[in-house]
Amino acid sequence: MEDEKHKLLYVPGPIEVKLDTRVACAKPMVGHRTKAFRELYASIKPNLKKVFYTQNAVMVSTSSGSGYMEAAIRNLVGKKVLNCVNGAFSKKWYDIAVSCGRPAEKIEVPSGKAIKPAMIEEKLKTGNFDAVCVTHNETSTGVMNNLQELAEVVNKYEDVMFLVDAVSSLSGAKVETDKLGIDMCFTSSQKAFALPPGLAFASVSERAFKKADKMPGRGYYFDLIELKKNYDKDETPYTPAVSLMYGLDFELKKMMAEGLDARFERHKKLQKTTHAWVKKMGFELFPEPGYESITMTCIVDTKGKDLKKMQEQMGAKGFSIDKGYGKMNEKLAAEGKKLTFRIPHMGNTSEKDLDDLLKAFEEVIKTL
Ligand SMILES: Cc1ncc(COP(=O)(O)O)c(C=O)c1O
Repeated sequence: MEDEKHKLLYVPGPIEVKLDTRVACAKPMVGHRTKAFRELYASIKPNLKKVFYTQNAVMVSTSSGSGYMEAAIRNLVGKKVLNCVNGAFSKKWYDIAVSCGRPAEKIEVPSGKAIKPAMIEEKLKTGNFDAVCVTHNETSTGVMNNLQELAEVVNKYEDVMFLVDAVSSLSGAKVETDKLGIDMCFTSSQKAFALPPGLAFASVSERAFKKADKMPGRGYYFDLIELKKNYDKDETPYTPAVSLMYGLDFELKKMMAEGLDARFERHKKLQKTTHAWVKKMGFELFPEPGYESITMTCIVDTKGKDLKKMQEQMGAKGFSIDKGYGKMNEKLAAEGKKLTFRIPHMGNTSEKDLDDLLKAFEEVIKTL
């Protein structure tokens, strides 16, 4: 039964999970060293590969995406990692590298800007790096870096691992892992996959596994070699969140039924509708032109509306919304700049769902 007090979740993750997916998670439990579990993982694997556009292993971890952020560093950074920072989550990846004791350097652009290929090239030319970390969709700012243009530079440097956080984009935006030469690409279940939080998925290239195999201090829970050994047997090294994997299997089948191209087109349409609404309302987009996210929109509150009130009143209408990424808005406020708020449009959101949300926003904004 639906909870009457439930507000539809329109924060940029976790996002709303449809009832059919929640029901799929409610299957009876099975042990993870059983044929039933191996059949479940075997059913998940080929569809995950399709969504990641890869021939490589895509491994499920019972963790959120941050686990794989740490795994990428511990397993694949020896010499020095170049962290491309354009917001809170890319900065967090740099902090993870530092806290793991790996040599790390960051290039940093102001909030709202994208990482440009020349910035990476300048650093890689020094020969000091063996890995580059790029956040595809910087959820704090709504900027979607252009993986194609960045891949062209990173792939010129043979010994450099290309590591991509696609946490708030993958399956909403097309990420062609193999074509882009990405060595490790990961995402979380609670974003565009429209599942409850608790799982993360990572594709790892063969050369990345080779590198990891020789890497000292790659940790225990996120040891890619151990994960792969078990993956090859349709198992996980430790007890996985079996219920969520039932949900994942169901959600992947739903994605295949929709068709991946149709899914990406739907997301682009949702983005277009949201951008048109932003313009109509007299607000502005926060990201620099040409780098706007496909899965969410970060909006400048040019009219100085009371975002806290907006959140409360949207809540009263049954929508749980975001009032901007906290730390970024604090910084913008300190600089005397306009604040931002974000509208996610990812997962299983339909045009009708988005219309309902935007209408509610409009009614609320008129009263503020
Ligand atoms: C771009 C990005 N990277 C990483 C993370 C961290 O992911 P998780 O919360 O699944 O650990 C988030 C979470 O919002 C994110 O948006």
